[in-house]
Amino acid sequence: MGLRGGPPRPAEPGGPALRFSGVVHRYRSIVALDHLDLEVARGETLALLGPNGAGKSTAISILLGIQRAQEGEVSVLGTDPRSAMASGKVGAMLQVGGGSGLPHGVKVRDLLSMTARLYRNPAPVARTLARSGLTELADRQTQRLSGGQAQRVRFALAIAGDPELVFLDEPTIAMDVEGRRSFWAMMRQFSTEGRTVVFATHHLDEVDAVADRIVVIRKGAVVANGAASTIKAAVPTRRVRFASKGVDPARLRELDGVNAACVRGSQVVLDSLDADATVRALVASGVSFTDIEVTGADLEQAFVALTSDLAEAHTVDDAVAPAYSAPIRRPPASRTAP
Ligand SMILES: Nc1ncnc2c1ncn2[C@@H]1O[C@H](COP(=O)(O)OP(=O)(O)O)[C@@H](O)[C@H]1O
Ligand SMILES: [Mg+2]
Repeated sequence: MGLRGGPPRPAEPGGPALRFSGVVHRYRSIVALDHLDLEVARGETLALLGPNGAGKSTAISILLGIQRAQEGEVSVLGTDPRSAMASGKVGAMLQVGGGSGLPHGVKVRDLLSMTARLYRNPAPVARTLARSGLTELADRQTQRLSGGQAQRVRFALAIAGDPELVFLDEPTIAMDVEGRRSFWAMMRQFSTEGRTVVFATHHLDEVDAVADRIVVIRKGAVVANGAASTIKAAVPTRRVRFASKGVDPARLRELDGVNAACVRGSQVVLDSLDADATVRALVASGVSFTDIEVTGADLEQAFVALTSDLAEAHTVDDAVAPAYSAPIRRPPASRTAP
């Protein structure tokens, strides 16, 4: 099948796991999805990354057939979202308001068997327990689980039907570092069984290791698409650190190229889109400093640069612009130092 006129790709069995083309979704005057285009291959683990309000949950609810796209086309496992859901091949872990979202007074194993019965071809409960690291907790009542354990049960519910495709909306929200680490390890194991996993998050730290590909969305449209390394490399931000006493952050923000300035005690960190110009301006400013160091962008800086209001009209896409180099925000052309 022709994919937007690109070079022919080897046919995937049954096509992509999901595809959005030109999807627009509004809540009254709020545009939640603004011509969103997205394709996820079968077996891929995709992180949908974006700040709060970017449209992640809206995209997932459309993929699940909970809401219908107002414009554009959506396909899931080669059919429309509702039919895909009805086939039992799609599982989901949605965002919950407060609490664990689990019913009380029921054992983990019983909750999973009840859920499995709703599916045509469920996984055996023992396998779901093992996949979610819950074998030891099978006889525990749901209200006696820790926050991280409850999230595992919610994951287990999402995979109880042995789905081909799983959506996880902010699955590690409110989990501690250890809880998140083991959650991702468990999810990674599940995805290596050839399942497609799409998860939304605004936590960047683990995405790097967990996802095959990252799609950054901002205001309902894709602003970056690629491996974490592509996204980091695409952003010209550099971090300039040094030690200085009693320096005014406002003054640092005025230096050429500086995007953000943070002062903690005597430690100063500047994010710069032109580290050379920043260092020159710093020297010219007469601020005294020691131990200066310039490093490349990490994923978090890349994310901030891509999703900030300064990022208008620039996109990073592996497929379209592998050698993206345009600055996201041009440093001021030339500002003479005071
Ligand atoms: N049910 C709703 N009614 C009105 N506005 C909504 C509703 N759900 C989401 N929005 C708005 O749509 C935008 C996208 O929200 P959402 O998809 O929840 O983003 P995310 O999951 O990335 O935080 C936001 O501006 C949000 O306030
Ligand atoms: Mg959300």
